[in-house]
Amino acid sequence: MPNLSTVTLRRLLTGLTCLLIAKVVVLTLISYRDYIPPDFHADFLFGRESYFYHSYAWAFYVHIFAGPVTLVLGVILLSNRFRLRFPRWHRILGRIQALCILFFLAPSGLWMARWAMTGAVAGVSFVMLSIATGLCVALGWRAAVQRRFAVHQRWMQRCFVLLCSAVVIRVMGGLTIVTAADAPWIYPLSSWLSWTVPLLIYEAWQHPGWPRKNVAASTPHQP
Ligand code: HEM
Repeated sequence: MPNLSTVTLRRLLTGLTCLLIAKVVVLTLISYRDYIPPDFHADFLFGRESYFYHSYAWAFYVHIFAGPVTLVLGVILLSNRFRLRFPRWHRILGRIQALCILFFLAPSGLWMARWAMTGAVAGVSFVMLSIATGLCVALGWRAAVQRRFAVHQRWMQRCFVLLCSAVVIRVMGGLTIVTAADAPWIYPLSSWLSWTVPLLIYEAWQHPGWPRKNVAASTPHQP
């Protein structure tokens, strides 16, 4: 049985993570004033005019719509309380999430990776991230259909960790502004660290050797 302080700590961490995600989603949505209509003097779109109106614009608008949707749905879908109270909604939103990632977010991220800021190192990271995110959601969906719910839960948790790379990379970007650290290698490095480090931490936490004497394994997933 988890003790009180462990439960409180878990709730606190979950609350703080949700707040951070909410903040990043709101700030991301606010930045859309620079994207609709596109402002090529603004940070992200600067210098992209030459290829924007070809295939990039489609991928870009699909991506900036799908990104926040998948993050918010991810928070809702990982909530044990929501799943146990509204199992039907969990299934409906889960399907929307899987389709949104497989058909919109991952392919658009893959396409945009070709023109990643700072070049190929970041580009390759985004390619791997797109493939990994698509794979996690596909394997998670298959496990749910096969009613292997513990496996389903783990793949979807991995998928969410990967989605949160969008939050981590923005936090890292914020830190570089605050610390005035400005080197050309920072963005490519952040693009890799933003998903590999959280994924490694998640895998370590899932490992049987992880000290979890007092930590409750998450509520077993029910059909
Ligand atoms: C996990 C899969 C994801 C992949 C592979 C991915 C990939 C990319 C790529 C390649 C870019 C262009 C970066 C550049 O040119 O340097 C980008 C930009 C962007 N992504 Fe994602 N992304 C993912 C998830 C998300 C999520 C969950 C959000 C939700 C907030 C999001 C929101 C955005 C936005 C708004 C931009 C435009 C740039 C900005 O305003 O920061 N992405 N993404």
